[in-house]
Amino acid sequence: MSDDRRSFLERLILAPAALMAATLAGLAGFASVPKAQDTAKRWRKATSMFDLGNKPMLVVLAERHQDGWYETRQQTVVFVDKDETGKGYRALSATCTHLGCGVSWDDAKSQFICPCHKGVFDRSGRVVSGPPPRPMDRFEARLNEKTGDIEVQL
Ligand code: FES
Repeated sequence: MSDDRRSFLERLILAPAALMAATLAGLAGFASVPKAQDTAKRWRKATSMFDLGNKPMLVVLAERHQDGWYETRQQTVVFVDKDETGKGYRALSATCTHLGCGVSWDDAKSQFICPCHKGVFDRSGRVVSGPPPRPMDRFEARLNEKTGDIEVQL
């Protein structure tokens, strides 16, 4: 067999094998590298300043998180309100700091009430009575001057 013919046959056999190996390596690399965990905090629109009345407003904020191959969806329920100064805004978690029940706003008493063990919080989230060990959790809140939206950092 001539060298040219042998060389041609070697290339004919090796080229598809090399192509297949490169494809498999690429697929293995794609499948084995998970996406980085998405932990960055972001400002999310909660409501418009024009929709906020003179009592805490319950808002549900939906978030998608990517952690490796897992994608989870999370809902954060907050009460958005004007702060003590009347110029700024605050967002309080609607999850009780005792055992995690949902708190609600009681208009008549002007307090947050937890129905599970009768925890009571004042409008700024401080514990008034009951078993909660600490004030309601706070999120950063701000007014977006351009849009008039009240945004919460999650
Ligand atoms: S869970 Fe709220 S007072 Fe116990």
